[in-house]
Amino acid sequence: MFFYQPIVLKNGQKCILRNAEASDAVRHHAYFVQTHKETDFLLTYPDECTMDIISLERQLKETKCSGTDVEICAFVDGKLAGSAGNNLIRDCAKMRHRAEFGISIKKEYWGLGIGDALTKACIECAKNAGFLQLELEVVSENESAINLYKKHGFVEYGRNSRGFRCRDGRWQELVLMRLELDENDRKI
Ligand SMILES: CC(C)(COP(=O)(O)OP(=O)(O)OC[C@H]1O[C@@H](n2cnc3c(N)ncnc32)[C@H](O)[C@@H]1OP(=O)(O)O)[C@@H](O)C(=O)NCCC(=O)NCCS
Repeated sequence: MFFYQPIVLKNGQKCILRNAEASDAVRHHAYFVQTHKETDFLLTYPDECTMDIISLERQLKETKCSGTDVEICAFVDGKLAGSAGNNLIRDCAKMRHRAEFGISIKKEYWGLGIGDALTKACIECAKNAGFLQLELEVVSENESAINLYKKHGFVEYGRNSRGFRCRDGRWQELVLMRLELDENDRKI
């Protein structure tokens, strides 16, 4: 699904939101490792990015051509600052309405409005793809992300107190959130 949007950040810098391309594979891999080092709130550890560059190139190319999935990158001064995307959860009749949303921004770019813009962009893409529900799971201590999601209309529908088990043995509770995309249609 095609997406392109220039935006201005809270600090006045210009930022381009656009689809991740196959040619972004090297920097997308580096971005993945960096963002996963900078927070303990993501699903995987930095060393768990096992995808090689060729496979990542293929995946980014397929995602750009997909009618359902999308990966949108934010570029500031030509540098990859963050990325977010939607993935169809399961391709079967009873679940084709559900997509999962994921986002991470490099720490040096937090608080500038990139998370807001990428979330808005992904919601728009999910609607355009015909999804009726966007879903996510977030660590309950991740206040910034929970605030971001609530701001965009996501609501909590459950918790999993043993959602993540860290390598040091700590549990991380997950908050399950969802956004109904056909809300306005149903109110009419
Ligand atoms: C969570 C994250 C995506 C927010 O992105 P961001 O670009 O810093 O967010 P923005 O500057 O666009 O802020 C958007 C909203 O998020 C919330 N938010 C962002 N930073 C916050 C903070 N430090 N404290 C509280 N709320 C915060 C606010 O609701 C904010 O809206 P506001 O500016 O109107 O108050 C970013 O911090 C991040 O990548 N964190 C690490 C990875 C991660 O946790 N991903 C989510 C996994 S579920």
